[in-house]
Amino acid sequence: MTTSREIRLKSRPVGTPVADNFELATVELPAPGAGEVQVRNHWMTVDPYMRGRMNDVKSYSPPFALGEAMQGGAVGEVIASNDPSLAVGDLVQSMYGWREAFNAPAGAVQKLDTFGLPPQAFLGVAGMPGMTAWVGLLKIAALKDGDVVFVSGAAGAVGQIVVQIAKIKGNTVIGSCGGADKVAYLKSIGCDEVIDYKAEPDLTAALNRVAPKGIDVYFENVGGEHMDAAIAAARPFARFALCGMISQYNATGEMYGVKNLIQAVGKSLRLEGFIVSNSFQHLPEFLKDMSGWIQGGQIQWKETIDEGIENAPGAFLKLFKGENTGKMLVKLS
Ligand SMILES: NC(=O)c1ccc[n+]([C@@H]2O[C@H](COP(=O)([O-])OP(=O)(O)OC[C@H]3O[C@@H](n4cnc5c(N)ncnc54)[C@H](OP(=O)(O)O)[C@@H]3O)[C@@H](O)[C@H]2O)c1
Repeated sequence: MTTSREIRLKSRPVGTPVADNFELATVELPAPGAGEVQVRNHWMTVDPYMRGRMNDVKSYSPPFALGEAMQGGAVGEVIASNDPSLAVGDLVQSMYGWREAFNAPAGAVQKLDTFGLPPQAFLGVAGMPGMTAWVGLLKIAALKDGDVVFVSGAAGAVGQIVVQIAKIKGNTVIGSCGGADKVAYLKSIGCDEVIDYKAEPDLTAALNRVAPKGIDVYFENVGGEHMDAAIAAARPFARFALCGMISQYNATGEMYGVKNLIQAVGKSLRLEGFIVSNSFQHLPEFLKDMSGWIQGGQIQWKETIDEGIENAPGAFLKLFKGENTGKMLVKLS
């Protein structure tokens, strides 16, 4: 038997989640059955979309079940195998996060070739968040030469990669974030202008100041007043990649209503939402670009790391308090 601890959803949050919505449980894992492997996780990710899965509503991703271990991306090592496709010591990626160890059919985990990158990079820059940045900017917003790009949540997992892809492509980039340390980080990775929305809450005025000629692309991570400001600053035919709206995820009453959407008509704006998993056909192209950029030193990234499964709920809650810079991760062993 292998002892593992896991985080279960104890109750559904109303508004911002609290520690009491989660519970830590201990389970004993038997040896893996035929066709199964046993994996010890080294890393797990916490992501904003998991907040939506805590609600009992129909969405693109099913709700987490009460009283059961939550799910999410993880990277770990095979510690016992009862399937010829995987051997003890193999590094694997899975959706069995929020737990220290698990048994699963061998086909439910993917063997990971890290190409020399640290394994947790496949939960960030070389994984789902990195691909979200790549898809949103290059496929959804269809970035062109000369575009001025505005990205909100710019110092987060997705945002930090959007900024750098836009710079690699030779574009002007404006980022928004909360706090002086994040402003300094964004400048260090080449962001041309940075708005600290906490210090300068009139976002429309702030964007007008740093982009007096307007913007051509808006990469939306935050929602609310950021969207009003982006629409106000948009040039005719600007494209908006609607990636996420984290400022609204914990709303209890009515969500923020965009005030100037009418301008989308006169300016012929294109606003397009997207979910990265609908673009997985681009995975090989993304990995080719990203591995080349990383090897060429053109992309760097930050991680904020908490340790221990018992601290995973706290790491998740940091996303909503802006306490992460770059990818928020939990180290498990
Ligand atoms: N469409 C897709 O397929 C897809 C895939 C991945 C992620 N996403 C979305 O992309 C966005 C970024 O995700 P991520 O994983 O990169 O997270 P992240 O940016 O690393 O972390 C969340 C950040 O959001 C900011 N934030 C939190 N509450 C806020 C509020 N009320 N107002 C303004 N900013 C707030 C904080 O940064 P500050 O300190 O700067 O405020 C915080 O650090 C999220 O909206 C997420 O849902 C979408």
